[in-house]
Amino acid sequence: MNKTTISIIILTAFVVIAAVIYSIHRQQKQGASTVVEKTFAIIKPDAVAAKNSGPIIAAIEQNGFNIVGMRKLQMNKETAETFYAVHAARPFFGELVEFIISGPVVVLALEKENAIKAWRDLMGATDPKQAAEGTLRKQFGANIGNNALHGSDAPETAATELGIFFPELNK
Ligand code: RTP
Ligand code: MG
Repeated sequence: MNKTTISIIILTAFVVIAAVIYSIHRQQKQGASTVVEKTFAIIKPDAVAAKNSGPIIAAIEQNGFNIVGMRKLQMNKETAETFYAVHAARPFFGELVEFIISGPVVVLALEKENAIKAWRDLMGATDPKQAAEGTLRKQFGANIGNNALHGSDAPETAATELGIFFPELNK
């Protein structure tokens, strides 16, 4: 083998290795960016009134969520009816709206890998009596109406709900 052949082999090997490293790096970057998502959460009037916002926010951070938006506000009836429009036909709709406007709430935009499921897992079942040990509704909820927290249930609802309370996040 002469020097030129050896040089060509070394150069080819170098190019192939560089292409493989670049492709692995790209795949890792794409994989990571597709699973990070945002979800919308509310600390409901019962939990705010009971001064449980602090421990709930601490739990959110300790569970690896990044809080990308947070505001304390009191909803008016129109906003509440828009927000709960999906439940308009349910028998408890009136109660639901009256409850959510009954006092201040803390609204949050949360970011994490698989944030929608991760937040619903951390909240626990809708009815605190059915919620698993270690979940926030088990710890801070009283009953199915006064259940301390809300969390979006799908990517489409997360986008709609975040759009109502954090329109600036989409700019
Ligand atoms: P959320 O929307 O508040 O995160 O709760 P969720 O998905 O676990 O439950 P969902 O079926 O969306 O119901 C919305 C809220 O309505 C109240 N509710 N009351 N009286 C009843 O039978 C009843 N069922 C549901 C709950 O406060 C629930 O969070
Ligand atoms: Mg729901």
